[in-house]
Amino acid sequence: MVKFAPSILAANFLYLGAQLKELEAAGANRIHIDVMDGHFVPNLSLGIPIVEAVRQGTTLPVEVHLMIEHPERYLEDFTRAGSDQIIVHQEVSPHLHRTIQRVKDLGKKISVALNPATPVLVLDDIFTELDTVLIMTVNPGFGGQRFIESTLSKIRHVRQLFRNRHLEGEVEVDGGVDLHTAPRAIEAGADVLVAGSSIFNDPQGPGSGLRQLQGCCGQIM
Ligand code: DX5
Ligand code: ZN
Repeated sequence: MVKFAPSILAANFLYLGAQLKELEAAGANRIHIDVMDGHFVPNLSLGIPIVEAVRQGTTLPVEVHLMIEHPERYLEDFTRAGSDQIIVHQEVSPHLHRTIQRVKDLGKKISVALNPATPVLVLDDIFTELDTVLIMTVNPGFGGQRFIESTLSKIRHVRQLFRNRHLEGEVEVDGGVDLHTAPRAIEAGADVLVAGSSIFNDPQGPGSGLRQLQGCCGQIM
């Protein structure tokens, strides 16, 4: 079963608590929180207080997508705030093995994200350590961008690597996921779909947006 991780970057923060409850009722699998620092990516976004608020507002697992330089400096803070899974970018992690071990020592799940221009082979030596590989299907930094088609072959590649090595790891996809691109990402091998705009911009609310996405992927809750 494909899992859905609504990205609250596109939420209406006045009603965040109610929107989280709607998503729970609609069958969301986890909540995705985008943390941006204005350095690794051009934008600034959410931080620790929002993670703490989401932790209180939902029983769903919470994952933090750290689009920040020196993510290793903040692992304890995000864990304390209530993250269940920490996503770090390979491009800002020269000591990735150490970062992965630290997250595991903290008792949390570890995911490594790859930008569209980063080849899968950079994960070769640490692949067996990962709970999830997050394939960026847009360049990170903003919601509402168009899905980059060439990333489909990368999704296939990571899926194949997990399969060949008999590993249970998940392939997660982030950026531009909507009613048209979601089925294609799944066909390529995605297990988890992150979606912001396509869920939260639904005029009937995020619960409705999520149900539509599930429906187009053959899953109706
Ligand atoms: C982009 C973020 C995404 C973003 C996705 O840098 O990592 O999680 O919220 O937004 P949509 O679904 O609008 O592309
Ligand atoms: Zn994200």
